Amino acid sequence: MSGAARVLERCDVLGRISEEPGRLTRRFATPAMREANEVVAGWMREAGLATRADPVGNLIGRRGEGPVVMLGSHLDTVIDAGRYDGPLGVLVAIEAAERVERDLEVVGFADEEGLRFGTGYLGSSAFTGRFDPSWLELRDADGVRLGDLVGDPGPARDDVLAYAEVHIEQGPVLERLGEPVGVVTAIAGQSHADVTFIGEAGHAGTVPIGDRRDALTAAAEWILAVEQAGGTVGRANVEPNVRNVIPARVTLALDLRHADDAARRAAVDDLRRRAGRGRDVTVEWNDLADFPAVAMDERLSAAFGVATRLSSGAGHDAAMMANIAPTAMLFVRCAGGISHNPAESVEEADVAVAVDALERFLRAV
Ligand code: HGY
Ligand code: MN
Ligand code: MN
Repeated sequence: MSGAARVLERCDVLGRISEEPGRLTRRFATPAMREANEVVAGWMREAGLATRADPVGNLIGRRGEGPVVMLGSHLDTVIDAGRYDGPLGVLVAIEAAERVERDLEVVGFADEEGLRFGTGYLGSSAFTGRFDPSWLELRDADGVRLGDLVGDPGPARDDVLAYAEVHIEQGPVLERLGEPVGVVTAIAGQSHADVTFIGEAGHAGTVPIGDRRDALTAAAEWILAVEQAGGTVGRANVEPNVRNVIPARVTLALDLRHADDAARRAAVDDLRRRAGRGRDVTVEWNDLADFPAVAMDERLSAAFGVATRLSSGAGHDAAMMANIAPTAMLFVRCAGGISHNPAESVEEADVAVAVDALERFLRAV
């Protein structure tokens, strides 16, 4: 079996390790995540790596002592996920590690998506000394406290010579270029906020439209402004969420990204000003994250031996790892650019090109 075929077969195996029947959802620090770590650790050991889990659950496979080149990606997923977002990068790294007999580390980060506690990049934050202690008091939807699931992440790793991450593109560019892989130039910055519109509940059959303080129509107007700004509202919580009651309170999850941090922050400020404008509601704005745009290391990127360049609108652990080491990313074409969707798919031939590029990288750096 070719290395690429084995990567895809292993993605299928991991794609069946889920918290939910019938779809792939694997959140941080869940039994499904522990099972995935055990399976991947076995593959790492087959590749001759010594394996361990760190205090927050990142899976580490290492060969040799001292400062190392690190490869990897994340093993957690979104809800109803595709099977390649994250795992592909870890499994391509194991394949390349098996081909190149040198000191190195392969990491499967424990939480990139932040699905369970809203903590994007939690796994790689722990690697880079940026684990936010306030996260320990976060509770998931079942009231489980994050601090009860992790140990002390300790200081930033100071022994990482370079970090390289292979990941599906999650966008249409490589497909449109007709290219199997491409080197990432930069990762867009992200602004996350929860925005709550507060109106007044009322009877859907009796309150005249002009007298209403409808939180949902105010929110809907703002969602279109977010779209105009190039952002996304991926979640809306409506209260009391009843057909015949005028919505009293709506909380929206804002996600806005841009290659330029000043432009992104200006867009967020404008959206803050526009929330609820002209509506008889009050607005509560809760900033959650401001991840700056991160340029990849061009010298290191050249080691892939790939000419195609493109930027990333998606966030990746590489954005966090760039805080402690020169960092490079390689994207793999994915069908229709579809991701965060069970229809996510890649071609074996493209994965083979990626494994070869990562092997070149390991021999060059
Ligand atoms: O949101 C992102 O870009 C990544 O999938 N966490
Ligand atoms: Mn993702
Ligand atoms: Mn990802």
